[in-house]
Amino acid sequence: MAGSNGLHSFGRRYAHITGWGKALPDRIVTNQELEQIVDTTDEWIRSRTGIQQRYIAVDPRENAVTLGTRAAMAALDVADFPVSKLDLIICATSSPAHIFPSTGSLIQDALGAARAGAFDLSAACSGFVYAISIANAMIVAGQAESVLIIGTEVMSRLLDWSDRNTCVLFGDGAGAVLMQASPVPGGVLSTVLGSDGSGGDLLALPAGGSSIPTTLETVASGQHFLKMDGKAVFRFATRIMVEATREALDKAGMGIGDVDLVIPHQANERIIRSSMKQLDLPDDKVFINLYNYGNTSTASIPIALCEAIEQGRLHPNDNLVMVGFGAGLTWAATTVKWAVPGAREVPRWRYSQRQATYSLARVRSRLLRYSRQVENSLTSEEGDALGDVLAQRIEGWRKTREE
Ligand code: ACO
Repeated sequence: MAGSNGLHSFGRRYAHITGWGKALPDRIVTNQELEQIVDTTDEWIRSRTGIQQRYIAVDPRENAVTLGTRAAMAALDVADFPVSKLDLIICATSSPAHIFPSTGSLIQDALGAARAGAFDLSAACSGFVYAISIANAMIVAGQAESVLIIGTEVMSRLLDWSDRNTCVLFGDGAGAVLMQASPVPGGVLSTVLGSDGSGGDLLALPAGGSSIPTTLETVASGQHFLKMDGKAVFRFATRIMVEATREALDKAGMGIGDVDLVIPHQANERIIRSSMKQLDLPDDKVFINLYNYGNTSTASIPIALCEAIEQGRLHPNDNLVMVGFGAGLTWAATTVKWAVPGAREVPRWRYSQRQATYSLARVRSRLLRYSRQVENSLTSEEGDALGDVLAQRIEGWRKTREE
């Protein structure tokens, strides 16, 4: 990892967001379509949540790795950053491709980020802001120069599509940001992380882990689907969004009046409006885009950040707050002084160069797999040969004893 020799400890370092990107599956599912599947109405979903549509990964080849990789590539493009220089990949996800290997490692392989460490971060919908906090700490401590953070979800595969209480709320997608070290003051100013595991049962996916391993019964009884006490989560969310935002602002030495934009976790418009009202924040300082995406868990804040930038809602020196809550229960907030002037013009050939790097990464991955197979087969042949020699020696020893 870069910087582990301590050479970067001269002067203060700041962690800035320098690239951003999002990726969505092709298929949009409207509330009207859900009316055909469960006993619900467009009017109920809109009035109780604000959601009008969501993206769903209907193609079985799409998963948390493929979506996360696309978002990551987009973020690297915006920052015009060579993947070969990446130090660390943190992948926040509630719907990983597997329990292990980590989705982060598989994205690292797909990108060909040969120097980067990679891991998954499990803090449900707060995961993306948790990841910002860790990336910031690594950068400020001089342990990393560049950290790629990804929030990627295929929540649709964890939902019971006959349960109207949950299936209307979530969507699939991914968002990513690149964070880089800089001597320029700004970037991440404060972070707040919280957890209260006593509320773990309020939002959970009960089976499939070491507590309730997968059996025919767990599958038959639907214990691999997301379960939620919506009302309890609602109460927790409206309280914690306010507290976490205030604490993050306090830590940064700021007040509500200093905030230019809040990007909250996009779960429910009523949760967001109620929290922001308690904070006395006017509507034009709050970014909401859940209408089009539903709750994409760890991906909701980075997707919203991308849209806020696309819509020109963030300017250099703006004070941005990102705040999330989720299963665990967990919560997290951060204040960021935005320092990037906007998407830079990157010469076309640089995109082509990066695409060529990704093609090479695929070849590299295949070659590594192949060489491992060859190595294994050689080792087992050697093992057999060794076994033969041992057998002959034992037989010889036995004969000598008998004689
Ligand atoms: N269509 C029609 N009716 C419905 C639907 C639906 N899709 N879903 C529930 N209902 C019914 C309920 O059955 C209930 O009927 P009943 O009174 O006959 O029993 C009625 O609507 C009212 O239900 P409430 O629970 O009172 O509805 P509420 O206004 O609380 O809204 C909601 C429910 C949207 C789930 C809300 O509680 C919520 O958003 N909670 C927070 C959820 C959340 O944010 N989760 C994500 C956390 S982040 C993460 O980690 C993944």
